[in-house]
Amino acid sequence: MFRLISLLIGYFIGCISMGFIVGKITKTDLRKKGSGNLGTTNALRVLGFRAGLATFLGDILKGILAFFLCRAIFPDNSLLAGIYAGTGAILGHDFPFYLKFKGGKGIASTIGLVLSLVFVFSPLFGVITIGVGILGVAFSHFISVGSIAFYISIPICAFFLGFPLESIGIFTALAILAIWLHRANMKRLKSGTENKFTLHKSVQ
Ligand code: G3P
Repeated sequence: MFRLISLLIGYFIGCISMGFIVGKITKTDLRKKGSGNLGTTNALRVLGFRAGLATFLGDILKGILAFFLCRAIFPDNSLLAGIYAGTGAILGHDFPFYLKFKGGKGIASTIGLVLSLVFVFSPLFGVITIGVGILGVAFSHFISVGSIAFYISIPICAFFLGFPLESIGIFTALAILAIWLHRANMKRLKSGTENKFTLHKSVQ
């Protein structure tokens, strides 16, 4: 039961879409501009650095908040409760019910979950997975490539660091979901039309 409750609490926290809020404040609907994604990359691309940073930090916070809230609610199953809550936050971010289930791709919220696990399980988990993501962006110059690399590294790294088997299953499912959500990016990468990473506004 703690699994379902944590997932649901996380989902509703994750539904608070920073990209949508930042868009409301700046009177720009990110769903209609750039990649149409309600995440950090598109906020950065369409609205610039400050909006991108606000979206990034707010979405990271959702993963952290969901994790520690459910960890506190279910102290007897704290690690798994936190992981289910973080997973819920990612799903809420990706599929917000009040936006016709069209949100972001979950990278920042996943970073929030990973950072939470750095504090309670293993610092190495964050260093390796976030490191892989940063290297992916640095070498390719595409955020989408770094994001996919980051996601794939999570279940692999969790396996070698001795995470519970159930959590490795969840991370694998999240990685498959993230790859599916990046299908348009992969198409653009193939055709050479994917947007390169820049810290400035690059779309009007
Ligand atoms: O944050 C998601 C990133 O990997 C790609 O975003 O807007 O280029 O589809 P976007």
